[in-house]
Amino acid sequence: MSDYILEIENLTKDFPGVRALENVSLKIKKGEIHSICGENGAGKSTLMSCISGVYPVGSFEGKVIYKGNEIKYHSVKDSEKEGLAIIHQELALSPYLSIYENIFLGHMDTKLGIINWDKYLNESRKYLKTVGLNEHPETIVSKLGVGKQQLVEIARALSKKTELLILDEPTSSLNDDESEKLLNLMLELKKQGITLVMISHKLNEVLKVADTVTILRDGKSISVYDVKADNLTEQMIIKDMVGRILTHRFPERNSSPEETVMEVKNWTVYHPEYHNIKIVDNVSFFLRKSEILAFCGPMGAGRTELMMSLFGHSYGFRSEGELKIKGKNYILKSPRMAIDSGLGYISEDRKNLGLILIQDIKTNITHSSLNKISKFGIIDNQKEIRETERFRKDLNIRTPSINQYVRNLSGGNQQKVAVSKTLMANPDIFIVDEPTRGIDVGAKTEIYGIMNNIIAAGKSVIMVSSELPEALGMADRIYVMNEGKIKGVLNREEASQEKIMHMALVG
Ligand SMILES: Nc1ncnc2c1ncn2[C@@H]1O[C@H](COP(=O)(O)OP(=O)(O)OP(=O)(O)O)[C@@H](O)[C@H]1O
Ligand SMILES: [Mg+2]
Repeated sequence: MSDYILEIENLTKDFPGVRALENVSLKIKKGEIHSICGENGAGKSTLMSCISGVYPVGSFEGKVIYKGNEIKYHSVKDSEKEGLAIIHQELALSPYLSIYENIFLGHMDTKLGIINWDKYLNESRKYLKTVGLNEHPETIVSKLGVGKQQLVEIARALSKKTELLILDEPTSSLNDDESEKLLNLMLELKKQGITLVMISHKLNEVLKVADTVTILRDGKSISVYDVKADNLTEQMIIKDMVGRILTHRFPERNSSPEETVMEVKNWTVYHPEYHNIKIVDNVSFFLRKSEILAFCGPMGAGRTELMMSLFGHSYGFRSEGELKIKGKNYILKSPRMAIDSGLGYISEDRKNLGLILIQDIKTNITHSSLNKISKFGIIDNQKEIRETERFRKDLNIRTPSINQYVRNLSGGNQQKVAVSKTLMANPDIFIVDEPTRGIDVGAKTEIYGIMNNIIAAGKSVIMVSSELPEALGMADRIYVMNEGKIKGVLNREEASQEKIMHMALVG
C-alpha cells in the first residue's frame, strides 16, 4: 500500500469564464495534518469540492486516487461512504434540529421504518465526549455558538467513520480559546489515525498543527513544504501565496483624532427572547473624528450586540440609553434611519453580510448608494461600472467580471464585496465587525490601508475585532468588553495583548 491516502494528479476545473484550478497535483500522507494555503480565490475550496463529490466526476479533468482507487463520486454521499468527510467554510447544520439529530441525520438505520431514537441519543454522547462538547444532545443547534456548532459537525463526521476529514477555514469564526481547543482536537484525531486537511488563512495556526503545507496561487500548486524539515515560517508561506514579500502588515499612519462625533451613554440592551436579561449593560463610550476605535473582548462579551443595537435597533428586545451623533440626540428605530444619520455597518456574519447572493457584484455594491450613480433619478450605467471597477481593483476582488453572481465568488471575495458596498455608501461613521475575517494576508493590508484613507478623509471607524494584533496595529483607542460591560479603555501607546486580556478578565 502507498503511504498516501489521497493523490491528486493534474486536476483542472473550469467554471464559465474562469479556470479555478489548473493542473493541480497534491499528495496527502496517511495520518498527517496537511494544510492548504492561498489567497482568496486561489482555488482551495474548489479543490476540496472536486475531491469530495460536491463537483461530480466528469465536471473536472485529472485524476484523484483515494485509498488506492481512482474516485468516481457523483455526490457527497458517495465520498462519505468511503470515509471522506468535508466541513465547509459555511456551516451546514439544520438549525432547528437537536445536536444528536444533526449528528445522525441522513445515516440512521431503520427497522421496519422505525428509527430507534434512544439508541442514537445514547450513541451521540460518545461522540460529544470525543470532541469535548459539553452540551445535552437534545439541545437545539441554533442555540449553540459557532464554535460549538463546529464541534457538532466534527462529531457528525466521526459518527460516519471518517478516515479523511477536510476542514475549510475551521477557526475563522472562533475566538482564541475555541480555536486552541479545536486545534488540539485535530491533533487528538490525528493520534487516532485520522488524516486531516485544513484550509486556513491563520498562518500561525497552520504552523502549529500541520505536518505538510501546500500553497496554491491562481489555481496552481506552487509549493509543498514539510513544516519541520523545511523550518517553514509565516514569511515563507506568504511569499509563495502572494508571489512577493510583504513587509508591512499594518500600513503607517499618523494618528490625530479631532472633536467627538459620536457619544453613547448608559447604553443597555435586553435579550431578544429573555426580556429581562441584559446583553449590554450600561455602556458608555465616545468616538472622535478621524479616529479608529477597536472593541476587543472574548466571544459573547456583547460587542456585536452593542453595535447592532446602535445601528438602528438591529438587535435586542429593547435598548435604553443615549446616542448622540455630532451633538444631536438620536433614536434610531431602523437600519434605514441609521444609514440616513451617517452610520454604516458591515456585519460579521458571512452568510448574512447583507449581500444578495443571486445578484451580480455590481448590483450588490451600488444598491444602497443609487443616488451616487444616478442623475435625475436615472442610473448612469457607465458610472456604475466605473465605480464598481474601482473597488474591484482597490480591493483586488478576484473575478472575471463585475457581472458575476456573488454566489460564485470565493468566501473571502464575498467579504470584499460587502466591504465595498459600505465604502460606496460612504457613511461618516463606519462600524465594521470582524472586517478581515476569512481574508488573506495581502488583502488584509489593503483593507487596513482603506481604513486609513477613511479617517484621513475626516471620517471615523469603529472596529470589532477578535484579532488582537489587528486591534493593536490599527486602533487609536481600544475599549475592552466582557459580560456586556466595558471593562476599560487603552490608548494606542499603552496597549498590549497582555493588558487587553487582563482588563477583560479582571477589569
Ligand atoms: N460556482 C462557481 N462559478 C463560477 N466561479 C466560481 C464558482 N466557484 C468558485 N469560482 C471561482 O473559482 C475561483 C476559486 O474559488 P475558491 O472558492 O475555490 O477560492 P478559495 O481559495 O477557497 O478562496 P477563499 O479563501 O476566499 O475562500 C474563484 O475565482 C471563484 O470566483
Ligand atoms: Mg474558500
